[in-house]
Amino acid sequence: MRSNNISCTVLAVILIFPMAAIADDNPPVSEFWQTLRGGLLYDNWATVLFKNAPEQTHPSYPAEGKKKGAGTWRCKECHGWDYRGVDGAYSSGSHYSGVKGIRSWVGGSVDEIAGIIRNDTHRYTEEMIPDEAVTNLALFVSRGQVDMAQYIDYSTKKARGDAARGARFYQAICSVCHGFDGKQINFKTPEKPEYIGTVAQANPQETLHKARNGQPGVPMVALGVLDIQDIVDIVAYSQTLPAK
Ligand code: HEC
Ligand code: HEC
Repeated sequence: MRSNNISCTVLAVILIFPMAAIADDNPPVSEFWQTLRGGLLYDNWATVLFKNAPEQTHPSYPAEGKKKGAGTWRCKECHGWDYRGVDGAYSSGSHYSGVKGIRSWVGGSVDEIAGIIRNDTHRYTEEMIPDEAVTNLALFVSRGQVDMAQYIDYSTKKARGDAARGARFYQAICSVCHGFDGKQINFKTPEKPEYIGTVAQANPQETLHKARNGQPGVPMVALGVLDIQDIVDIVAYSQTLPAK
């Protein structure tokens, strides 16, 4: 009995103590991680923060734009997956955005960018996006953007990568969830399926953004820790996967 008690105590110390230590005293998060989280917030801050964006269309959303409602509060809806706004992939089509991009803020002051996010054009209140998340967003704008035009040929929509090399990364990482053929997760309906191959071919900019920063609201890895060319190679490989 006695030896049983001792082993129980030892177990309790081993099992409970480390958990308590992690819960009470998280290690500090790196600035790099915060920058990736900023990319996730840029995609869809409401989903990341478990909030609802306002139902009314964002007051700064261009009158010529085709979208309405909560989705117009996503940064990407105005500034694009390629951060070039009206000068990028959203220069035409169903996501037409008349808004300029955020490329000129690469390397900019995080405090100034945070001020822009809180300005009257944007109207993001503390209630919607708390300060800490605004800092993450500003870090992303300053340090997390990539120059998509360098990595994607806009006229053919082909990623400028080595698909065979990308297969190694895809099969080791992405396939765990998406499957070897990319069809293990269907983003849409059984009738009108959308797979990683579908998205990569139709919207390589979105695929590159998500591969680097993750997918809001689900436990997907953020591969921004890899070299940019590794990720471009993954996108190139994803484009070879079945679209339906
Ligand atoms: C409804 C549309 C809309 C949304 C959504 C939006 N913005 Fe903007 N943003 C604008 C407009 C309009 C400007 C001003 C552009 C100008 O000066 O011509 C702007 C300007 C900026 C600028 C300065 C660009 C420059 O070169 O002066 C940054 C940085 C920026 N936004 C970041 C963000 C971030 C981060 C988010 C999400 C948290 C966001 N924006 C969401 C419309 C939007
Ligand atoms: C741990 C699991 C997991 C891994 C690993 C993973 N994903 Fe995902 N991914 C998901 C889930 C879950 C979704 C969301 C499905 C949904 O919203 O219906 C998703 C969504 C996506 C989307 C969004 C499609 C859309 O239109 O919203 C893209 C693009 C994507 N993943 C690319 C990748 C790439 C590229 C890799 C490898 C670098 C990868 N994923 C690795 C789980 C994962």
